[in-house]
Amino acid sequence: MDPKQRVKELQRLLKTYNYEYYVLDNPTVSDQEFDALLHELIRLEEQYPELRTEDSPTVRVGSVVIDKFEKVEHDHPMMSLANAFNEEDLRSFDQRVRKVYPNATYNIELKIDGLAGSIKYEGGSLVLGATRGNGVVGENITTNVKTIKSIPLSINYILPLEVRGEIFMSKKSFEKANNDRLSEGQEPFKNPRNAASGSVRQLDSKIASKRGLDMFIYSIVDPASHGLTSHKQSLAFAKDLGFKINPLSTTCTSIDDVIEYIDTYTNKRHDLSYDIDGIVIKVDDVTMYDTIGYTAKSPKWAIAYKFPAEEVITRINSITFQVGRTGQITPVANLDPVIVQGSTVSRATLHNEDYVIDKDIREQDYVVIKKAGDIIPEVVRVVTERRTGNENPFHMISQCPVCGSTLVRNEGEADHYCMNPHCEAKKIESLIHFASRKAMNIEGLGDRIIEQFFNDGLVQSIPDIYTLHNHRMDLVVKEGFGQKSIQKLLDNIEASKANNLDKLIFGLGIRHVGEKVSKVLASNYPSLEAFFDCKIEDLTAIDEIGDVIASSVYHYFHDEDIKNMLLQLHMLGLNTSYTSNIQQKAEFSGKTFVLTGKLEQYKRDEAKQLIESMGGKVSGSVSTKTDYVVAGTDAGSKLTKANQLGVTVLTEDEFTALLEK
Ligand code: IVH
Repeated sequence: MDPKQRVKELQRLLKTYNYEYYVLDNPTVSDQEFDALLHELIRLEEQYPELRTEDSPTVRVGSVVIDKFEKVEHDHPMMSLANAFNEEDLRSFDQRVRKVYPNATYNIELKIDGLAGSIKYEGGSLVLGATRGNGVVGENITTNVKTIKSIPLSINYILPLEVRGEIFMSKKSFEKANNDRLSEGQEPFKNPRNAASGSVRQLDSKIASKRGLDMFIYSIVDPASHGLTSHKQSLAFAKDLGFKINPLSTTCTSIDDVIEYIDTYTNKRHDLSYDIDGIVIKVDDVTMYDTIGYTAKSPKWAIAYKFPAEEVITRINSITFQVGRTGQITPVANLDPVIVQGSTVSRATLHNEDYVIDKDIREQDYVVIKKAGDIIPEVVRVVTERRTGNENPFHMISQCPVCGSTLVRNEGEADHYCMNPHCEAKKIESLIHFASRKAMNIEGLGDRIIEQFFNDGLVQSIPDIYTLHNHRMDLVVKEGFGQKSIQKLLDNIEASKANNLDKLIFGLGIRHVGEKVSKVLASNYPSLEAFFDCKIEDLTAIDEIGDVIASSVYHYFHDEDIKNMLLQLHMLGLNTSYTSNIQQKAEFSGKTFVLTGKLEQYKRDEAKQLIESMGGKVSGSVSTKTDYVVAGTDAGSKLTKANQLGVTVLTEDEFTALLEK
């Protein structure tokens, strides 16, 4: 047969078989047959290179090696999705949408756990594959994208087209990739997502080709320009062009249906052949998108429901104790390292003695771990069925593990404290807290550096931070910093002097005084010096301050050593007065509001913020101190109480009028 004809024939056959296997998941020939045809084509194309086309199935094998990934700017930014974690979040998303379009329908899809990719076609040929990057600029991964068998190299559509979707690795390919890696003496990938993202960033496309990457397309960019008016149509359009579309998407007309779908897939997710981390809900009618709008990062017409935290079982090797900045002692479980939601966890907080005893957590126990709020590892419960009898019952320590002083547990409190003001652990932790982001925010002065400075005797107290510039040479010699980084650090320290008073108060680490209370204190006292004369009764007269906080603040500012330290900070040039950024409004200033019932125009948080930004306060319960009750629909007992006490009740419209006055 004429080689030209045979090459054409083989290309056509392999393209079809490839599509049947990888997109339709419905092969019509055996693997051996496929391989034999592919090898025949490879040989022929080697022999007659002029017959090799850009979209030949042999491109999938991957032959191009590049030395770096070029940056590519996206024509349309690749946004991300806002998250919903529970039914309430979903219902408020639904309400926001329905406020604009009462009859909107939703298209719901699985949220594939991989990485977002964009693919462009011109004149029917694949011309670019890119990663999301920061959403504005991504990386050109075309050579690797071409090796992904479910992505067509050419399509029967000549207009410029950009499709987007999720590049992922199936559980099976992940297992194979890790076996390969282990046999080559390499670290295995932590999870399919990391494996997919590492593989698309392979410089050698032959390696990427072997990783079994896959891609589901979930959107068409600028659908209107292709005559598409709904998301459902977009998916059908992509499917007709030969793209792989996830078959499990569906349309819902109500949020209740959406919630039902979520429940189904929360249970079924482990049966799927690929990882999903949630469900994506999108308004179906794309002509509604602009009206519903966008935030800086995400569209308001879609939301991603994220599944609850993954729970994993591991063993506690030992329980040790950490000393915090206030002297608080925290028991910590040291675990057999285990991967939870993609990162290795080897420690988990056990909070305090009561927590450990309540859950009866022992050394050598198998425990269920999850990440609270997706970040901090926490022990959920002990797997008592796996106890062998060799577990060590927990004993709380009675002495500080760092300075050895006797620990104190006050009545009614759960925590033990090291009371030694000179305990080194406490000093280091206090300094770390002072410089941290939410306090004085001194960039460059992190945990490790503070510990080093402390041990070198350079910074033993807060004022020492502000005299560090006198030790420039010590820093260069001892710490081995470059001149430039030292200058940067000293500049950051200098800049922190101008911080508002609430940041400084928070940074001092006064017991029971968090970020919010620091703000309250700063706005009630004009300067740091004013606290030296504060009285308990003045403090408790402030709404948000109770006895415990008042006593802690009072004792802190009446300690002579602390007073001296604070005066020193003042002398060193730190700002010790408060500048309010609240635009006080007479109707709101100093007034207490209670919100009740369902508000139509505001979310609770929004209304609260508005009141606070005008100098008012929001309280959770109605009392004689309440100035206004804002009552939405279905207001209950709070409204009754307001009427009993004769408190002014505002309707939502009256409240709006007050805001706009
Ligand atoms: S739609 C405007 N649909 O989840 C954003 N995303 O932050 C359009 N993802 O970066 C994304 N499955 O990588 C969409 N069916 C799906 C998805 C999906 C996974 C990823 C995507 C995106 C992230 C959301």
